[in-house]
Amino acid sequence: MVYSEIVMDHFRNPRNVGEIKDANGIGEVGNAKCGDIMKIYLKVEDNIIEDVKFKTFGCGSAIASSSMATELIKGKTVDEAWELTNKAVAEALDGLPPVKMHCSVLAEEAIHDAINDYRKSIGLEPWETKHHSEHIHEEVHGE
Ligand code: FES
Repeated sequence: MVYSEIVMDHFRNPRNVGEIKDANGIGEVGNAKCGDIMKIYLKVEDNIIEDVKFKTFGCGSAIASSSMATELIKGKTVDEAWELTNKAVAEALDGLPPVKMHCSVLAEEAIHDAINDYRKSIGLEPWETKHHSEHIHEEVHGE
């Protein structure tokens, strides 16, 4: 399998790894087939993604996808972050092998999950997501 240099770079030096203690949106999704899990932490202020971090227990493409996805949504509005598709993540990585496209889907969905968690926390209805992956994390608020 041939990976782009950008994929290798983000795999070897992933950006935004870790967690945010005072996150106000947390998303976690997993792919039942490969067993990989991705968790995204958002710090939203005035509808802007002020900070974002991730923890991914998964393959190299999943790590590269989460790293790139967090870079792409940082500083964006919540609405813009919601629009980030897995295709855009894969394109920003200069492509992923076809059998690895689902790894970028995980990134899109983990972000969606985190955004909906944030929306719930401020009393808004969750947005509709496609949800190909397994939803793991229900919510962080009100537990
Ligand atoms: S192999 Fe499943 S996320 Fe990469």
